[in-house]
Amino acid sequence: MGIKILGTGSFVPQQRLTNDDFRRFVDTNDEWIRTRTGISERRMAGWEPVWYMGAKAAGQAIERAGISPEDIGLVITTTATPDFLTPSIACVIQNEVGAVNAAAFDMNAACSGFVYALDTARRFLETDDSLKYVLVTASEALSRFTNFNDRTTCILFGDGAAAAVIERSDKLFSSHIAADGSGAGYLCARNLRPAPEIAQEPEIEDSFPDAGDRKLYQDGKEVYKFATKALPLAFELAAQKCGITKEDIDWFIPHQANVRIIETAAKKLGAPMDKFIVTLDHYGNTSSASIPLALNEAINDGRVQRGQKLALIGFGAGLTYGGAILEY
Ligand code: COA
Repeated sequence: MGIKILGTGSFVPQQRLTNDDFRRFVDTNDEWIRTRTGISERRMAGWEPVWYMGAKAAGQAIERAGISPEDIGLVITTTATPDFLTPSIACVIQNEVGAVNAAAFDMNAACSGFVYALDTARRFLETDDSLKYVLVTASEALSRFTNFNDRTTCILFGDGAAAAVIERSDKLFSSHIAADGSGAGYLCARNLRPAPEIAQEPEIEDSFPDAGDRKLYQDGKEVYKFATKALPLAFELAAQKCGITKEDIDWFIPHQANVRIIETAAKKLGAPMDKFIVTLDHYGNTSSASIPLALNEAINDGRVQRGQKLALIGFGAGLTYGGAILEY
């Protein structure tokens, strides 16, 4: 059983930060950022909450799918940067879009989130006949835990949201999701510690680096090495399951972290760069929102057409990775 993407939508914050704007916070320059990452500018959610961006994107996806929100049976929201620890952002979006009959939960698989969510949505559709439509929204504001004093990380990320409405179909769909927790410390941000009233010494030590509470730490070189391996591997693992080869793919839509990662992976895969959708130049790395943002943009500008075969490939903190091959 496969899935069909009925409609997609997106929302990005108003505030646009160019590479030169970062000179206000750190010692950097446009040339370094463009040549090392391919990023020229990104959006930053100065006031837009994660639930708000997700709901806006979801509303557009529902409208384009031409369905009634009451017929959505499940809302999955992928985010590593929720506005609330509880409730889930999916519940807030469920209410905002009027998906009154839907169950709702959040998923955090970092930048692989959208691929993890598609894999999960397909499993729900396969095992529950009463489920008609699944709404997947990916909404992220990495600026909430970006350290704007750290020039090696702050220039990489951007904020935004994208969404897709999915139904079951007999179209091609194959996915593979995976993780390697031994690399969890390469890209991490701490959250809560015990309340001072009950905190006891000694705390159980962990091996995670400390960039300060709710601030992102990254070992850029280790993440780079992982990403250039994970991207081709995730494709191969999903492709093996359905007997597809790289030549069958019309568009590769990878997670948008760094254009050098995409170029290296394209070489390893032996696929030409002009088959890769790249949006990181204007959005930066928007974590789980990056793949659906790129997909939505390529649908809007006519590159992605019905009947084409797409390979969506995610990799990120966790470390997680995953590939989904589908006919649009
Ligand atoms: N502006 C100017 N100089 C910078 C800079 C910036 N924004 N950031 C780092 N530098 C400097 C460093 O301080 C270092 O200077 P030094 O040689 O004097 O010490 C020099 O540039 C090289 O830094 P380095 O960290 O070795 O650069 P790099 O080529 O490894 O590129 C990344 C850094 C972060 C771009 C790269 O490691 C990367 O893309 N990693 C993967 C990140 C990623 O995609 N994460 C998300 C995955 S989901």
